[in-house]
Amino acid sequence: MGKILVISGHPDYKKSIANRAIINEFRSLVPDAEIVYLDSEYPDFNIDVKREQKRLAQADTVVLEFPFWWYSAPSLMRRYLEQVMTYGFAFGPTGKALTGKRLIVSFTTGAAAEAYSPQGYQHYTIEQFMPQFRALSNLCGLEWQEPIYSCGMTLANPDDKEAANVFYNKVADHARRLADAVG
Ligand SMILES: Cc1cc2nc3c(=O)[nH]c(=O)nc-3n(C[C@H](O)[C@H](O)[C@H](O)COP(=O)(O)O)c2cc1C
Repeated sequence: MGKILVISGHPDYKKSIANRAIINEFRSLVPDAEIVYLDSEYPDFNIDVKREQKRLAQADTVVLEFPFWWYSAPSLMRRYLEQVMTYGFAFGPTGKALTGKRLIVSFTTGAAAEAYSPQGYQHYTIEQFMPQFRALSNLCGLEWQEPIYSCGMTLANPDDKEAANVFYNKVADHARRLADAVG
């Protein structure tokens, strides 16, 4: 299993329902995983690059956990990638710090799974949004793993017992798939 590092990229974790529940469930399944909450550590987006690079260098598996915002990772997670995945560290002739580590992108979408198809209102499949992450993984010598995601992860009315049941079953299933993937 090795060392597992989960980077939570939700810019407002306190307001998160899905990602927070997934991470909490995952923590109970994989208690040894290190979780970095970017929004609490870096509320002003002022990322401690050396510290984060050290954390990455010590990990065997890196999980990027985030809500899908505008078909990508939210700004805080993008900022993390921009600042931390630098030339000479993550890529380039001497940038070998990440070589051979596994990368898992783990995310939730608001739109339902059916929306992500050529016939659906999002027009594209989820896989068609993945090259941005796959290319980064490739450039950094990371070992790309199958993305883990759940669609339709909004809970409009928590008092709707049936909807809440479906939602939390999806949360549990997502956390289990993630735990299996890092195991
Ligand atoms: C700024 C913003 C952009 C979003 N963009 C998308 C999107 O591109 N596709 C989608 O399916 N859902 C989108 N959503 C919905 C979120 O993915 C959804 O609320 C989230 O996955 C729920 O997780 P959370 O409870 O941890 O915040 C967006 C939400 C916000 C606030």
